[in-house]
Amino acid sequence: MIKKKSIEDLAIFGGECLFAVPKSTSNLLQPDFEKFAGYSKLFFNQRRYSNGPCVELLEKRLAEFHQTQFCITFCSGFWAIASAISAVAIEGKTEIIMPSLTYRRMADIAAWLNLKPHFCEVEPQTLAMSAATVEPCINENTALVLGAHPIVNCCDVKGLETLAEQRNIPLVFDSVESVYESIPEGRVGGFGRAEAFSLHACKLLNGFGGGYITTNDPALAKQLAQAREFGFSGEENIVTPGGLNAKLNDMHAALALASLDGIDEQVARNRERYFAYKRLLDGIGGIRLVEFDERYRAGYKNIVVELLDEWPLSRMDTISVLNAEKILARVYYSPPLHKKPMGFGYVPAHLPVTDRLSERYVNLPCGHLVSPGDIENIVEMLAFISENAAQISKRLHTVFEIK
Ligand SMILES: Cc1ncc(COP(=O)(O)O)c(C=O)c1O
Repeated sequence: MIKKKSIEDLAIFGGECLFAVPKSTSNLLQPDFEKFAGYSKLFFNQRRYSNGPCVELLEKRLAEFHQTQFCITFCSGFWAIASAISAVAIEGKTEIIMPSLTYRRMADIAAWLNLKPHFCEVEPQTLAMSAATVEPCINENTALVLGAHPIVNCCDVKGLETLAEQRNIPLVFDSVESVYESIPEGRVGGFGRAEAFSLHACKLLNGFGGGYITTNDPALAKQLAQAREFGFSGEENIVTPGGLNAKLNDMHAALALASLDGIDEQVARNRERYFAYKRLLDGIGGIRLVEFDERYRAGYKNIVVELLDEWPLSRMDTISVLNAEKILARVYYSPPLHKKPMGFGYVPAHLPVTDRLSERYVNLPCGHLVSPGDIENIVEMLAFISENAAQISKRLHTVFEIK
């Protein structure tokens, strides 16, 4: 029970906070410490802190997990994606097609590679790019299509693959939010030229940060393994101009291995959280849970809701009230990338669907610090906000009005 009798009890108006510890939209998995320590002994005893036994084992285990031939780890998802794009983008071409409704730093990746983002629309039902939204963006400058999955369910992988093949354009997937997912054709990881994942603590697999690429292309796997390590082939021979030091170190790999050991249990707990939200949100008008497609395997990590036209308070006011209670709800990919000030060039975009969607969705707390009881309280708070919206809005806008 949230114990709020009137709006004066809301934390934003000086009442007591609902939660003592913030409830965030990050996963914050804490893998089993003994497992982490056990894996750490492998590299520590051998004094191999990078290029060591944990990185080797992690790459083998992740390739098995995604049912791909190769996995190449990186120091972050960011540099994993950048390296894969750099390796396969068509030389001499200048544009990279990506959705605007996606990871907020995606355009920076393009900027590092001297490529111009050409933002495509998304489908209103799925929040995902598709062959139909990508096709109008293809032109003689297209160097690559970056297929990005939304944070609930997958984009139309097969449609994008077919389009990329027909138009002879390389396709790389940002599958950071789809680690555990399957599509009808198989496990996420083996599509396009390569797929990229993150080991950040906010993701399903926590490696204290890090990232990886999966691919079935042996030449690409070799090129990426060299690129992350200064471009070295052998002792001193640099084969990749502009190579990076972007290796994952073994301590990170040890934590990622411990995370991977517990991934099925983790997903089972996420599924319970998701179904608790689904059951409880059903009773509240004006708010719609974005549902996982239960026909396929999913990680059930992210909780996304749409505030419908009937929802009686603005999205920003709703989030402000929740945040004051330490419910760290966040806007979903908003503002979209084409609406952000950028110090580098991009192809001007008119994206009315993205614009509309970017104003409607909210990420709600999820992951390991959110219990079933917390979910009851969060949903009760939403119900309270809905019931008292008119008063809350009036009070908020009177308090902050400049007289
Ligand atoms: C969809 C998506 N792609 C890429 C990244 C970058 O991953 P990293 O934080 O490991 O660099 C993130 C990180 O949040 C992300 O959400």
